[in-house]
Amino acid sequence: MRVFKTIDEMRAFSSNAHSRAGLLGLVPTMGALHAGHGSLVRAARERCDVVAASIFVNPAQFGPAEDFAKYPRDFEQDCAWLERDGADAVFAPSVEEMYPPGATTWVTVEGMSDRLCGRSRPGHFRGVTTVVSQLFHIVEPEVAFFGQKDAAQVAIIRRMARDLHLPVKIEVCPIVREPDGLALSSRNAYLDPQQRKSAPVLYRALCAVKAFFDGGERDAARLIRAGKQEFSGESGARLDYLEIVDPDSLEPIRSIHTPALVAVAAWLGSTRLIDNIVVNNS
Ligand code: PAJ
Repeated sequence: MRVFKTIDEMRAFSSNAHSRAGLLGLVPTMGALHAGHGSLVRAARERCDVVAASIFVNPAQFGPAEDFAKYPRDFEQDCAWLERDGADAVFAPSVEEMYPPGATTWVTVEGMSDRLCGRSRPGHFRGVTTVVSQLFHIVEPEVAFFGQKDAAQVAIIRRMARDLHLPVKIEVCPIVREPDGLALSSRNAYLDPQQRKSAPVLYRALCAVKAFFDGGERDAARLIRAGKQEFSGESGARLDYLEIVDPDSLEPIRSIHTPALVAVAAWLGSTRLIDNIVVNNS
C-alpha cells in the first residue's frame, strides 16, 4: 500500500490508475479507524479496481470549542488496517498541504447545512463539503464511499455533487454497530465505562420510534415523543435533537408517507454521539 502526503504524489497515482482504465474508489476518513470505516474500504475493494483512502483530521469542520486537538490519531494502526482491508493507497496530507496560507474559499450547500448537526455545530458541514470537494478534485474518484452513520453528511455531499456536476458516484454503506446497538464511532473512545453503558440509549430511542411506526403510527410528533421517552429513563445522556426528516432534503416531515430519516444526537458528558435509522412504509 502506497502512502502519499502531498497532492502532487496523490494526483500522479490517480492519473496512473485512470490511464490503466479501471474504476478508482475513494474512502474519505479522519482516521482513528474502526470496523465502520473497514466496511467502506471493503465495499470499495469489491466495487472498484483501485482503492484509495484518505486520512485527514479536517480542522475546518471542527468548531472552536470542539475536539480537533484531542481527536484520536493513530496513523500506524490506521495504515495497517487499511492495508488489511485492501486499500492500494492512502492520502494523508498535512493541514498546510490542504489549506494553503490565507485560504478563504469555501464550498457551502446553503440551507441544508444548517439542519440536524448543522444547527448544533455551526460551520461543520461547510468544512465537510469544502474538504470533500478538495478530495474529489485531488483524487478524482469515479466512486466515493460514505457511511449511513452520517446521514446528513451523505445528503449534503450528494446535493453538492449534483449541484456542481461532479463526475463521482456516491455509495452509501450501512451503519456498523456494537452488539448492544451502539453505532461504531471514533468518538466512542472518549466514553468512560458509565457513559459507555448509557450510550446505547440513542439506538434504543430509534428502535422505539421504529416499533411505534411499525405498529401503524405515522404522526412525526407522536413518534418523536416515543423516542424521547427513552432518554427520560437515562440520566447519563442529554438529548441534543431527535428529528424526523426527508432523507434527501433534510426538511422536517410531519406525517410519514415516504421513507423518512429518524436522526438523533445526544451528549454523554462532553462527548456528542449521533445515530439514525430510516423508516419506510414498504
Ligand atoms: P469519519 O468520521 O472518519 O468517517 C469516515 C466515514 O466512515 C464516513 O463516511 C462515516 O459515515 C463512516 N462511518 C463512521 N462510522 C461508521 C459506522 N459505524 N458504520 C458505517 N460507516 C461509518 O465523516 C468523516 O470522517 C468526515 O466528515 C469526512 C467525510 C472524512 C470529511 O472530513
